[in-house]
Amino acid sequence: MDPHPPLRFAWREEIIDREVSALHAAAFGGDGGLEPWAERLEHYSLGWVTARRGEELVGFCNVITDGGRHAFLLDVIVGPGHQGTGIGRSLVLHAIERCRASHVEWLHVDFEADLGDFYMADGLFRRTTAGILRI
Ligand SMILES: CC(C)(COP(=O)(O)OP(=O)(O)OC[C@H]1O[C@@H](n2cnc3c(N)ncnc32)[C@H](O)[C@@H]1OP(=O)(O)O)[C@@H](O)C(=O)NCCC(=O)NCCS
Repeated sequence: MDPHPPLRFAWREEIIDREVSALHAAAFGGDGGLEPWAERLEHYSLGWVTARRGEELVGFCNVITDGGRHAFLLDVIVGPGHQGTGIGRSLVLHAIERCRASHVEWLHVDFEADLGDFYMADGLFRRTTAGILRI
């Protein structure tokens, strides 16, 4: 087997719940329980970007929308063994391109303070004020 299969990015590619649940748990913790990702993505997302090395899912991000001008970037994740190699940046750039190709005018994202450099680099996003409430 090729130890370095090519990296491939895709938009709205079919995913299986187990692989996204595992990637999400690896990045954010949690019990790694199975979440119904495929159903949720189909119902609530403008689209999602997958990054695969061979068949392995190594990166993911999700773009949800109000159906109009606004979209929100969620769950930008790169597998722990693949971080720091540009995959995260590419995921975000792919998502932005897809938003540009649709009706979206504003792409929102929020993040922990230490990720400012990741999102602000190269003038991609600019800082704003926002609010959040835990329901
Ligand atoms: C955040 C995350 C998606 C970044 O993905 P990545 O593939 O490691 O990032 P990249 O290799 O594309 O890095 C792109 C740039 O952002 C910078 N960067 C990456 N992670 C960073 C971090 N945690 N803090 C500050 N800068 C960071 C890199 O140094 C790089 O800068 P450079 O181009 O000047 O070298 C990844 O670390 C991850 O999945 N983390 C856990 C989940 C998470 O917190 N997701 C964000 C939810 S808001």
